[in-house]
Order: sequence, then structure tokens, then C-alpha cells
Amino acid sequence: MNDTNSLVVVGAQWGDEGKGKVIDYLAAEADVVARFQGGDNAGHTVVYGANIFKLHHIPSGILYPGCISLLGSGMVINPLVLLDELSELEKRGISTTNLRISTKAHLIMVYHQVYDRVNEELLGENKIGTTGRGIGPAYADKALRRGLRAIDLVDIKVFRERLAQVLPLQNHLLKWAYGHEGYDLDQLLEMYRPAVEKLGPMVVDTSRLLSENLAEGKKVLFEGAQGALLDIDHGTYPYVTSSSTVAAAAGSGSGLGPQCASRVLGVIKAYTTRVGEGPFPTEEKGEAGALLRDQGGEYGTTTGRPRRCGWFDAVIARYAARINGLTGLAITKLDVLSGLETVNLAVAYECCSSKTKEFPASMATLQQCKPVYEVFPGWHEDISRARTLGELPEAARQYLEAMEETIGVPIEMISVGPDRTQTIVKPATYLAGWCGD
Ligand code: GDP
Ligand code: IMO
Ligand code: MG
Repeated sequence: MNDTNSLVVVGAQWGDEGKGKVIDYLAAEADVVARFQGGDNAGHTVVYGANIFKLHHIPSGILYPGCISLLGSGMVINPLVLLDELSELEKRGISTTNLRISTKAHLIMVYHQVYDRVNEELLGENKIGTTGRGIGPAYADKALRRGLRAIDLVDIKVFRERLAQVLPLQNHLLKWAYGHEGYDLDQLLEMYRPAVEKLGPMVVDTSRLLSENLAEGKKVLFEGAQGALLDIDHGTYPYVTSSSTVAAAAGSGSGLGPQCASRVLGVIKAYTTRVGEGPFPTEEKGEAGALLRDQGGEYGTTTGRPRRCGWFDAVIARYAARINGLTGLAITKLDVLSGLETVNLAVAYECCSSKTKEFPASMATLQQCKPVYEVFPGWHEDISRARTLGELPEAARQYLEAMEETIGVPIEMISVGPDRTQTIVKPATYLAGWCGD
């Protein structure tokens, strides 16, 4: 392995930072793109020309015919949703023959979606605001050692056997705790037969495949889903997802050691958004938030829910930089801020009459935190055609410099629109080297 052949890309806020766009751009140079956690709760958008792709399980590298796409062992996969995702891509002329699924990835089953829905209903106003995809219950079953894995999809007899082992317990829970009639083994088997037939042959030892590719000096991108603040350990618990979303999970979620990638790119929006419940210190509930939502098209890729919007929060970004070991930043959606008189950037929080730059662990404390803003002059120019830093207005460059300084990590990429081409890579950076400049 050398310094240029492996890179982890992670979200550094509450998800939807534009990881799909950034990964698609970098995947042009990659041999392998691997997801390592999460499931179809992810919604990664890739845009080129009139083409818009919304990917849920499948890595953004699938759009390049020469690139291998891997679903790693740290993922939870809904076989039925993955079948739809594959056929949607195939209908649009995208080859899916390079997709490989880890033997060890866990399966999201129909009953996990029932648990997810009922759990949320029972939590009432304390709900998490999940995507309803069954993510939490699938990871819970993995930890409880009663999950099904992708390797069980390789043979219908094995799948039947494994299902027969876990279904009595699941049916007991469904009937007695969740008010659901439960599932019949043979009906479930028929429901999943197409998945066994189509996905079974894609199931391989992805750990070995990745390690062989790395040893050959191939370029590998690890595609994170969700974001730092949704991490099960380090996020805004309990308002988080159920997987480890930080860069360290790239190794464990792909069957490799922690040195599997030499660099970690954090994707950060030029402002902040969040879907689902939980505290959000820089949230703007009024006009400013509505403006960001409208200009940024901030509606969930997976659920269509309007995203909560607010100003950039450097307290979060610094925290994300630490827990991920970020070596570079990709700032997205800078174009969305064009036209504002002033732009706010939170540099600290005011809480219980003291000022802090640290991100608190207690949600009750975070709820009390008021952002301390530095206010920057806005710019009015349309920046969506800028392809170099020099083409950005002075005020936009000042704002970027302030971000870089408060976060303490170099900006390597700036995105000024959803399209592949609307991207600025800073010269003489690691990413410039990745892209061959
Ligand atoms: P992800 O989950 O991190 O991949 O992000 P999503 O795809 O859920 O949401 C990001 C949205 O912003 C998508 O609709 C992208 O097409 C869009 N997008 C990405 N980068 C930019 C950008 O620089 N400017 C604008 N205007 N839109 C962007
Ligand atoms: P990408 O990869 C934004 C949020 C949900 C909810 C919480 C738990 O597109 O950035 P879950 O269904 O995972 O149990 O929901 O996590 N969430 C996301 N928010 N982007 C995502 O993925 C998300 N995946 C989950 O809204 O608050
Ligand atoms: Mg998304």
C-alpha cells in the first residue's frame, strides 16, 4: 500500500452531505469502491448531465463499468430492496456484473421493518425518526446472534434451514410483543427465492478480494454512509443510526486492519441539515432555514422527508474531524449560499452561561446549547460554473478559509453543484494526486 491508493470518504455531519456526488467524482479513478456499514437507509445521489441516480445499498462506483463495487461485512442488506435497486440500474443500461456481496453482511428481513415501525410508534413523541428500513432491528438481531447473513443466500436449502431456526422466535416476538400475525416459513421462502437466485452468485469473500486489490496497488475507495453525528457510539445518541459510521469502521466493516486506508476525506455541507429527531444547535426554523431547504433541494433521498436546515457548525465539524481522523475536507453545496447578504458560521456554543468549543455527550446539554456565530459577508454571483478557486468570489473564499481555520483540516475539494463536472479540486493536495493532477 502507498499513500495514494486508498481513501475513506465519510459524512462529517448528520448525513446527506453529498457523499454520493464526491465518491462518484473520485470513483472515476478507482478500481474498487466498498461500502462498509449501514444499509438502505443511505440515499446517495449521483448526477451527470440529465442522469440522476439514487443509490441505497450499491456503492457509487457502480456507474463506472471497470470498477468493482463491494457490499462489506459491516453492512445490513435488504435482499428484496437490493433486487429492485439492481433491476432499476439494469433497466437504465448500467452493468451490475461487478457487484460483490460479503459472505458476512447481515440481512434485513421483512420482520425487521415491522419492528422498526412499531418501535417508533411506541416511542411516540420520543421517536428517533428512523428511515423505517429495519436498520436498528437488523443490527440488534446481529448482536443477539440470531441474524441471517448473505452467506445464507448462497443455497436455498441453507436459507430454509437458517430461516427455520430463527422464525419461531421471530414469530413469537411478532405475535406477543408487536401485534403482528407472524410469517409462514414457506411463504417467506417464496418471497426470498428470487434473491437467492440473483444475489447468491454475488456473495464472496470480499475481505480477501479487497486485500488482494490493495496488495496489487489498485485504488480503493471506502464509501461511508450516514455521518459522524449519526454514529452509534459517538453520535447524538439515541438519535443516531445503529452502525459505526466513522472512518475506523472502514477496516472492521470490510475485513481489513485499521491501516487499510492512508487518507480520510470528510464530506461537509457548507451549511447543516438533519433528518429525523434530535437536537440541532444551529437549526433555523424560520425563513433562513426555509431558504436553505428550497435553494438546496433539501428533501430526503430515501424517505422524501423535508430536511431540517441551519447554519454551518464548526463545533460539530471539529468533533467529526477528531473522531474520524480526517486528513482532508470536501465542502459541498457552496453554491446554495449564493445570494445571501450574510453567512453565519458557529464557532462555539454558549451553554449554562459559559462558552464551549467542545461537543457535549448529553442530549439535554446539547439542547441547551446556543450557537456563537461569526458573521461573514455573503456573495451574489452564481458560482455553479466555477472550476478553480480563483473563479470564486472573494467573499466565498474568505468563508472557506474561515471554515478551514476553525476546523483545522485542509479543504481539498469544493462542490458548486450536483453535477459531476461542478467540482473544484485544490491543486497540490492528496485529492489532486488521486485525480492524476
Ligand atoms: P449523501 O447521502 O451524502 O450522498 O447526500 P444526498 O445525495 O442524500 O444529498 C445531497 C443532495 O445534494 C443530492 O440531491 C445531490 O445531488 C445534491 N448535491 C451534492 N453536491 C451538491 C452541490 O455542491 N451543490 C448542489 N446544489 N447540490 C449538490
Ligand atoms: P446517507 O448515507 C441522513 C437518520 C434517520 C434517523 C436516524 C436513524 O444518505 O447520508 P435509521 O433508519 O438509520 O435507523 O435512522 O438516522 N439517517 C440518515 N440521515 N442521511 C442518511 O444516510 C441517514 N441514514 C439514517 O433519519 O434520524
Ligand atoms: Mg443521503
